[in-house]
Amino acid sequence: MDGGHALLIICAPSSMNTFRGSFYLGLPEPDRMSAVQNESWGTRVGLILAMAGNAVGLGNFLRFPVQAVNNGGGAFIIPYLVCFLLMGIPLLWIEWSMGRFGGRNGNHSTPFILDTMTKRAFWKYFGVFGIFTNIAVAAYYCYIESWTMSYVWHSIVGTFDGLSQTQVAAFFTSYVDIGHSTTGIPYEAVVFYVLCLGLNTWILSRGLAGVEKAAKIGMPLLILFGVFLALRGLTLGTTGASEEVPTASAWDGLNFLWTPQFESLSNPKVWLAAAGQIFFTLSVGMGTIHCYAAYVKSKDDIALNAVSAGFTNEFVEVVLGSLIVIPIAAGYLGLDWVKENAGFGMAFQTMPFLFEKWGPFLSAMAGVMWFGLLFFAGITSSLAMGTPWMGFMRDEFGWGRIKGALSFGLIVLVLGLPTVIFFQEGVFDEYDYWAGTVALVVFALAETILFSWVFGIDRGWKELLSGSDLRVPTAYKFIIKYITPLLLLLVFLGALFTPQGNEWTAAFQSLFSGGGWTLDNSSIIKTIANAGLHEQLAAATDPAEMTRLQDRLFYTNFARVILTLTFAGLALLVYVAALRRIQNTTSTAA
Ligand code: TRP
Repeated sequence: MDGGHALLIICAPSSMNTFRGSFYLGLPEPDRMSAVQNESWGTRVGLILAMAGNAVGLGNFLRFPVQAVNNGGGAFIIPYLVCFLLMGIPLLWIEWSMGRFGGRNGNHSTPFILDTMTKRAFWKYFGVFGIFTNIAVAAYYCYIESWTMSYVWHSIVGTFDGLSQTQVAAFFTSYVDIGHSTTGIPYEAVVFYVLCLGLNTWILSRGLAGVEKAAKIGMPLLILFGVFLALRGLTLGTTGASEEVPTASAWDGLNFLWTPQFESLSNPKVWLAAAGQIFFTLSVGMGTIHCYAAYVKSKDDIALNAVSAGFTNEFVEVVLGSLIVIPIAAGYLGLDWVKENAGFGMAFQTMPFLFEKWGPFLSAMAGVMWFGLLFFAGITSSLAMGTPWMGFMRDEFGWGRIKGALSFGLIVLVLGLPTVIFFQEGVFDEYDYWAGTVALVVFALAETILFSWVFGIDRGWKELLSGSDLRVPTAYKFIIKYITPLLLLLVFLGALFTPQGNEWTAAFQSLFSGGGWTLDNSSIIKTIANAGLHEQLAAATDPAEMTRLQDRLFYTNFARVILTLTFAGLALLVYVAALRRIQNTTSTAA
């Protein structure tokens, strides 16, 4: 649909709605398809950059290093790479195939992409995940993205100059403490959040061309900034050692990450973490790739494109992602500090302080590059999260891109404000857990079964190979059919029934000796029951601590209600859309 057409639809008075709706949907199938389908990617480079931009995100720089450190450094890498080959690549292929297939039939979001692949009506409700996850993740993801905008600003104006490590860390704590923030701008976190969402909405309102342009600017800059900072990480060596930490060395950080430890292969905990990271970083199991791939022209390659985007992401993650935070932090503060403090905070609470050691000019520049890199990584991903909703509303209700983008911005604002305002009460974490972790595995498992077993691996394989510029190894036909779903099932069960202390050997021993299976509080089952919080609450004696925990409990449940309502609302829309489709076919037939 061109801009004029889209605008016409938006500007149509509401009294025309019924008319427009039935007229639009009343077209015979092929016409309806061409009416919705004629938006597609400008160039192949643009498509790959946009897909890579979707995958390359905050996960590569903030989540990966933390996961790697917390799971034993070199112990993490092998399971991680195996998961990439046995789950990541297959899922990329599955999702690109489904997406292009759906697009050819005029569908650009997962509910009806899934629907066209099967005769059973219930599958489309699995497809709701493909819109839901994007919206829910966008809500908290854009919050982190907004921090990076704000930190670019503070790096430029020199807010961190001369602050001690504790003061730089305290700046962040104050930033997220909305009502009591002392960062200089009143309600700064909210201000930047709204700005950030506004920017996303504006780019999205320009359609795929806007997304493509953002990727073409953002990705090269991100890599440039990343290479600069990585070189710094590589060349720091032991020059960062100080009186307080005389043994600090950037090499320790790198050795820790890159010395493989084979014992880890038998530790399910590491496998679960590795699989989770692969999902998040590749953006699989979310519906975003389906949507992007639905705009690929039906004769164009997908097999090679999928691999190119996937490998770009892995390069950025394992090379750039591991050469910045960890070596620099280890180089100044020592590896032990890194192991103890691995977390989100490293990027925002520690990096600005360490940059200061490079003198006023370089520190400002490094700050702009580091937070700028995070910003570009973030925005090319959050834009991707907007597209499934927009594609769905356009396919089913004829919404143009301006209306689609504005409604997306508004929904994300409503869902996201609680993560901003009640950040410390755990709303953010709750979204991240259910939408950013659990939902991905559930959807990935469902779509793999659909693709290999319902749609059928033979048809699926043909779909993948059609137009392919790559010789896909035939072994992958077997992998996609058996190995990937099996691994996904194991990951899901592992998360559902995580044993106490994440100690799998002990758990199985206990199970076989009749001692039963004790669930860990981090297992999905115990998490649903808020077991950990209840335990802490029972043990708490300090009244202030008790109030804090009670608040947390309340907001955790509050977050779940919001998420459930969002899912239900989307499912209802899918239901309505399905009804409209039925009406449409009967009226055309009549
Ligand atoms: N892959 C992105 C990252 O590494 C995150 C991401 C992109 C995402 N698109 C998504 C997460 C859609 C959930 C849903 O940061």
